[in-house]
Amino acid sequence: MTDLRVPGSDTRDVWEIYLSPTWMPALLVADELGVLESIADAPGSTDELSARLGLNGRALGSVLALLASLGYLAPRRGRYHVTDATRHHLIPSSPFYWGGVWAAMRQHSPLYDQLLRALTTPDPVEAMPQSSGRNKRGVDGWASGSLTPEAAASMTKYMHSHSAAAAVAVAQSDLFASTSRLLDVGGCSGVFSIALAARHQGLSCTIMDLPAVCAITPDFVKERGLEDRIDCYAADMFRDPWPQGYDAVFLSNIFHDWRPATCLTLARHAFDVLLPGGTINVHEMLLADDGAGPRTAAAFSVLMAASTQGQQFTFAQLESLLTDAGFVDIDCYSTSPLHSVVRGRKP
Ligand SMILES: C[S@@+](CC[C@H](N)C(=O)[O-])C[C@H]1O[C@@H](n2cnc3c(N)ncnc32)[C@H](O)[C@@H]1O
Repeated sequence: MTDLRVPGSDTRDVWEIYLSPTWMPALLVADELGVLESIADAPGSTDELSARLGLNGRALGSVLALLASLGYLAPRRGRYHVTDATRHHLIPSSPFYWGGVWAAMRQHSPLYDQLLRALTTPDPVEAMPQSSGRNKRGVDGWASGSLTPEAAASMTKYMHSHSAAAAVAVAQSDLFASTSRLLDVGGCSGVFSIALAARHQGLSCTIMDLPAVCAITPDFVKERGLEDRIDCYAADMFRDPWPQGYDAVFLSNIFHDWRPATCLTLARHAFDVLLPGGTINVHEMLLADDGAGPRTAAAFSVLMAASTQGQQFTFAQLESLLTDAGFVDIDCYSTSPLHSVVRGRKP
């Protein structure tokens, strides 16, 4: 991994506050579903535990990584083991078990309900994302390709704040210093394209997003006076054709919303629209290969498992996914203390 971090890109303090509300729900579901008791009886990998307990492995993997990063599990040779803290406070047979507290806390956590549903619902086999049809906000609107103007307006503001520091960090890494045309898939407010175009005078960007978002994005671009080099392309990335002829495709916080099979479909679309030698660039918070965190990425993964159809990935998982899509020379660049760009090249 090449370290391209710059001062000012360290947002670990706000991320800790933003994501600490995932800690308790992760512990509550593990308690409710007997995950910790089962590991105390026999250590297991995510796949073994998911088969043993009949739970969704994608969501379970996020919960296990977070509990490991909090010190309740220890991964050894690919299997999770319980720690002393778990034996004392989280196993029903212990005289110091906190079960009475956990029972009360379940009543107060909407995220717990969402996470419980994610762990107990199997993934569909189709690569096309499924909409539950319950509402047009968030991931349901994304999956069906139709977002209300109100949902688009609040999501665009949210993502702009959420990603501003990470975007400047990517721009300052100079990973795109020699790029001419970049396609920013799910580019939202244009937070990354704006930072990149402001840094590199020779770069033009296309922000591709749903029509309701593309109705708002030009305001963000005009505010920075970059409308001559940043345009918007309104499309449903799952159902519509993608624009062609880019030397870089950028996807930030996109893969983490979807199952690996859906991400593979997106990676193949990116491959198709890139010029030979062009690069796919997946900007995400990466999980460690040993399944023990880091805590912020693991907590983010629990949030994604509860509220989207996705999870955070390890570098090894993204490398394998991009290889399956046809990319070569896959490498990882750390752009901030929390974020990385995984880049692959179209031969
Ligand atoms: C989590 S946000 C990421 C925004 C931005 N890339 C960032 O990192 O801050 C996901 C983005 O993907 C867009 N998106 C979701 N589903 C889409 C679809 N079916 N077609 C096009 N864009 C979609 C959303 O509108 C949103 O802007």
